[in-house]
Amino acid sequence: MNKFLKWLGILLGGILGIALIGLLGYYIYWVTQANQTMEVEVATLEIPTDQASIERGKILVNIVRCTECHGKDLGGLLWADHWLAGTFGPTNLTPGENGLENYTDEDYIRAIRHGLGQDNKPLYYMPSNFYDDLNEQDLGDIIAYLKTLPPSEEPGPPNGRTGPLFWQFVLENPQGLPAVKMIDHEAVKEIPVGPDPSDTLAYGAYLSLPCKSCHGDDFAGVPLLERLRVPSPNITPYNLGDWTEEDFFTAMREGEVPDGTFIPQSLMPWLAIGQLTDDELHAIWVYLQSLPPVAPEDAIEFQNAGE
Ligand code: HEC
Ligand code: HEC
Repeated sequence: MNKFLKWLGILLGGILGIALIGLLGYYIYWVTQANQTMEVEVATLEIPTDQASIERGKILVNIVRCTECHGKDLGGLLWADHWLAGTFGPTNLTPGENGLENYTDEDYIRAIRHGLGQDNKPLYYMPSNFYDDLNEQDLGDIIAYLKTLPPSEEPGPPNGRTGPLFWQFVLENPQGLPAVKMIDHEAVKEIPVGPDPSDTLAYGAYLSLPCKSCHGDDFAGVPLLERLRVPSPNITPYNLGDWTEEDFFTAMREGEVPDGTFIPQSLMPWLAIGQLTDDELHAIWVYLQSLPPVAPEDAIEFQNAGE
């Protein structure tokens, strides 16, 4: 009996030892990948302070979805609080002690364009790979708006302690570590000036970039948008071919589509998109109509959620 217990003890000890070594290895992998210091060249930009720029920044943070993750008031959201995952969520972006108190203009640009924190370490799940295309004016307006937000009373999520479950999520999903896996920091060291608004087609293409994060890279819709748990419709002429420009304006300004149903504000930020100027919406329309009518092989029969 004693002999049996002894062998059982050795066996269990061995298993535990191997598990601990495995975990240690995984921890080292985590630290070297996700906690590495990345020195990058951060572009400089004069951040505007006039009211018009701040107002435009307010529209843009909704169109490019900062508010979807950082919260409606940009005061941060707690995504995870679990003993095996740690505590984590999108940061409180308001100025002041609960938010980005010591942030410089350079820090904002580093975070938004490179996905790196003040300490030059990767920001997890901050989708900076979508923001390198923001032109000087739009990036400047967004930062101008963030700097003038009222400081939020609530602290943001207490990021810091992370656990093995979180490491796994971050390491196996490229979008978990954009700074390491998705951004060519050398290629994006300069902020694009962007197309001239008088070049309607090119400007429309630029303004349509934020639509891609939901309607897909080819604008042909996505069978399932995981964040929102719904499919998104095809917005190439394949689907919008018989829309008029007026239909499009009505959809963007009032949320109503030609069949009489409404686009839920919770699924698409049309209230913000609709605040773009007539010229800007016109440019988006012209660009969308110029696209090839993509009919994906696995085209989904799209049902409006409002039906
Ligand atoms: C898909 C969700 C998501 C979207 C969209 C998003 N962020 Fe983030 N962002 C995060 C998360 C999560 C963090 C925290 C990362 C960390 O602490 O590792 C973060 C961190 C940041 C930071 C760094 C704060 C710090 O502590 O240094 C800034 C600045 C920031 N985001 C600005 C923005 C802006 C501006 C936008 C819109 C242009 C935006 N984010 C859009 C998820 C998002
Ligand atoms: C956050 C995700 C998201 C973003 C960003 C977004 N959309 Fe949408 N959009 C959706 C979803 C989801 C629907 C379908 C809503 C429903 O169920 O009715 C939709 C519906 C539409 C429709 C109606 C299509 C139809 O057949 O009913 C148009 C047109 C449209 N979007 C255009 C745009 C344009 C243009 C942009 C960029 C300027 C954009 N969307 C940005 C998620 C998004």
